[in-house]
Amino acid sequence: MRHPDINMNHQWLPFTPNRSFQLDPRVLVAAEGMHFTTHDGRQVLDGISSLWCVGAGHNRKPINEAIKRQLDTLDYATAFQASNDKAFQAAEMIAGMAPGDLNRVLFCNSGSEAADTALKLALAYHRARGEGHRNVFIGRERAYHGVGFGGMSVGGIPANRKVFGTALLPRVDHLRFIHDPVNHAYYNGEEPVWEEDILSELESRILPLHDPSNIAAVIVEPVAGSAGWYVPPKGYLKRLREICDKHGILLIFDEVITGFGRLGANFGATYYDVVPDMLTFAKAVSNGVIPLGGVICRDHLYDGMMAANEKNPPHAIEFFHGYTYSGHPVACAAAIATLELMREEDLFTRAGQMGKILGDAMHRAFKGLPHVVGIRSMGLAGAVELAGLPGLAGKRGYEVFLDCFHRGVLVRPAGDNLVLAPPYIVEKAQIEQMVDTLAGAIKRVV
Ligand SMILES: Cc1ncc(COP(=O)(O)O)c(C=O)c1O
Repeated sequence: MRHPDINMNHQWLPFTPNRSFQLDPRVLVAAEGMHFTTHDGRQVLDGISSLWCVGAGHNRKPINEAIKRQLDTLDYATAFQASNDKAFQAAEMIAGMAPGDLNRVLFCNSGSEAADTALKLALAYHRARGEGHRNVFIGRERAYHGVGFGGMSVGGIPANRKVFGTALLPRVDHLRFIHDPVNHAYYNGEEPVWEEDILSELESRILPLHDPSNIAAVIVEPVAGSAGWYVPPKGYLKRLREICDKHGILLIFDEVITGFGRLGANFGATYYDVVPDMLTFAKAVSNGVIPLGGVICRDHLYDGMMAANEKNPPHAIEFFHGYTYSGHPVACAAAIATLELMREEDLFTRAGQMGKILGDAMHRAFKGLPHVVGIRSMGLAGAVELAGLPGLAGKRGYEVFLDCFHRGVLVRPAGDNLVLAPPYIVEKAQIEQMVDTLAGAIKRVV
C-alpha cells in the first residue's frame, strides 16, 4: 500500500529491485527495540539488525542522548591537520577492544571505505619499506568487501563484479570459497572439520603464480557474511596467518559484520584467536545510528610508515589518504555511547548465549523442509539455504523474504540463502517468531 504523503518517484534504491519495490513498497517510519513500524502502520520484527548494524536494538536512549549532547557541543570539525576529542576517545576504546597490538585506528564512514583504506595502506606500507613491487591482492570467492573499486576487485560475488570488468584492479587473485555442500551443509555453532586442506592451493598454485614477493595482502571475512553466513573450516584462519607470515604478506580481516559482538566476542580475530595486520570495521560500532567505519592497524604498520618519513621535513604527510568525515565527532560520540552500552549490558556475551538458542531453533525448524539444502549457524547469526530454481537463482530467496516481511519479520535474502542475525537484545520468544515465520514462508514458496 502506498502512503499518500510519500512521493516515491525520486529515490533510486540501493541493491534493490526498484521495479518490484514500486509495486509493493516497504517503507519504515519508526523503530523501537526489536521492531519497526511501517508506513502502513504494521510492526515488523528486525531479524537482521538492519543489515548487521543495530546490535543494541533500536532507539537506544544513551546513544541518542550522546548524539544530541555532541551536536550541541561540537557538531563537526575538520578532519585534516586537526582532530577532535571524541575521535581520540573512540579510537582508544576500539583499539582497547582489539586483540594483540592492533593499536592504531584510521576512521572512515563505511565498510566499503574501510576495505579500500586497508588495501591502500597495504600498498603504501610496502612501498615505504622499499617493497613497492608487492602490489597483488588476494581475496576470496564470494567475499563482500563493499562497492568501492578496491573492495569490489578483491570481492568475489559474481553479480557485483560482472558489469564492471574492465574497471576492476588488475593484480588480484582469489582463494577458493569455504563451503563444502556435500559434507558440511549443516553445522550449528561448531567449526566444520574438513578432511581436505582448502588452503593448500594458496601455497601450491596462487603464490607461485604471482611469486610471494609480489603479494601485498590477503583479505578475508572471518565468517563470510553477505554470501550467506559461511564459517571457515577449523584451523583455516590460523593457517592463513602462518602462510602470510612465512611470505611477508599482510593479512586483513574484514570484520564489518563479525566485529563488535556478532560472534559473542569483541571480534572474529578474538573468537578465532588470530591477529591480522589490519582489521576493518563499521556497522555495529555505532549501532548503525550514525555512519562510522575504520581500519585498526598493528603497530608495525604505523611505526613503519612513520619511520619511512623520518628524514622528511616535519610538514610531510605520511599517508595521503583520508575522508572529510574521518573521525566525525558525532559519529564517534555515537560509537563511544554504543560501546559503553554494549559493555554495561554485557551484550556481546548475550549475543553468544542467544546465538545458541537461535542456532538450535533454526536447525529444529528448517531441517527437512522442502527445498532446504543447508543450515549454518555460528554466533548470533544463521542461514538456511534453499535449492535455487533452475535459471532463476535468488527467486526463491526473494519470495521467502517478501512473505516474511508481509507477516511481520525482516529476514535477509542472500541469493537463495535466508539469513537471520537479530540484535543482541533479542528474546527467546522473538527468535521463535522469526524462525516460525521463516519456516512457514519456506513451506509456501514454490
Ligand atoms: C564484510 C563487509 N565488508 C564491507 C561491507 C561494506 O560496508 P558498507 O555497506 O558500509 O560500505 C559490508 C557490508 O555489508 C560487509 O559485510
